Amino acid sequence: MSTDVIATDKEEVAFKDLDVAILVGSMPRREGMERKDLLKANVKIFKSQGAALDKYAKKSVKVIVVGNPANTNCLTASKSAPSIPKENFSCLTRLDHNRAKAQIALKLGVTANDVKNVIIWGNHSSTQYPDVNHAKVKLQGKEVGVYEALKDDSWLKGEFVTTVQQRGAAVIKARKLSSAMSAAKAICDHVRDIWFGTPEGEFVSMGVISDGNSYGVPDDLLYSFPVVIKNKTWKFVEGLPINDFSREKMDLTAKELTEEKETAFEFLSSA
Ligand code: LMR
Repeated sequence: MSTDVIATDKEEVAFKDLDVAILVGSMPRREGMERKDLLKANVKIFKSQGAALDKYAKKSVKVIVVGNPANTNCLTASKSAPSIPKENFSCLTRLDHNRAKAQIALKLGVTANDVKNVIIWGNHSSTQYPDVNHAKVKLQGKEVGVYEALKDDSWLKGEFVTTVQQRGAAVIKARKLSSAMSAAKAICDHVRDIWFGTPEGEFVSMGVISDGNSYGVPDDLLYSFPVVIKNKTWKFVEGLPINDFSREKMDLTAKELTEEKETAFEFLSSA
């Protein structure tokens, strides 16, 4: 096994024979920049990285996109790498997933490890929907539904959702920099689960390509879903009941992703 670190700015060196690619960098939003300008700059970057993956990486490469807007950047990279299965591309919403677990744990006075099966639906943006309708918490050795354990529906439907949605912005405001350690931890969690699988009885959130058949999400959107992973292959967690409150929030974030996709694809043809 090679343990070398190779610093390079040459795509043919950086992307050669990769098993895993973690695309961390992207063009950050600057003052005065419209969302469209941000998308345009990033389409250029992720088109080029997708093409390089297509040309140099192993066809089995697992690609994890972290740089924002992560979902649409991931879709751009995948479209630009037609010889790599689209299921090999995912974007990071584990950071939001971990934040949701932490908020529940704090409220109940347990550790984040005692909380499982939270879901982040949709975009890694402030429209994401953190959903704990199917989440469980371990209390005195027993697994209980989060709604049942907390008995505070208005917090779960209000402040909990907005806190998780706006956590990224809150970190930037406090640090004047984007999240670092928690993002790194989330990347480790995400890649470890892709490689070694999810624990029995547990699911995690990842931005993956929708097939149009799961949870009413339009086909071909890079949308965060609950997934289980085995043999380095993810599958949607199917059949979870979705209530009206959740439906509305899931559709809202899908709408934002559809708009991002349309804008990105306009630029993709000319980038
Ligand atoms: C986060 O969620 O912490 C980051 O994605 C925020 C950002 O825009 O860098």
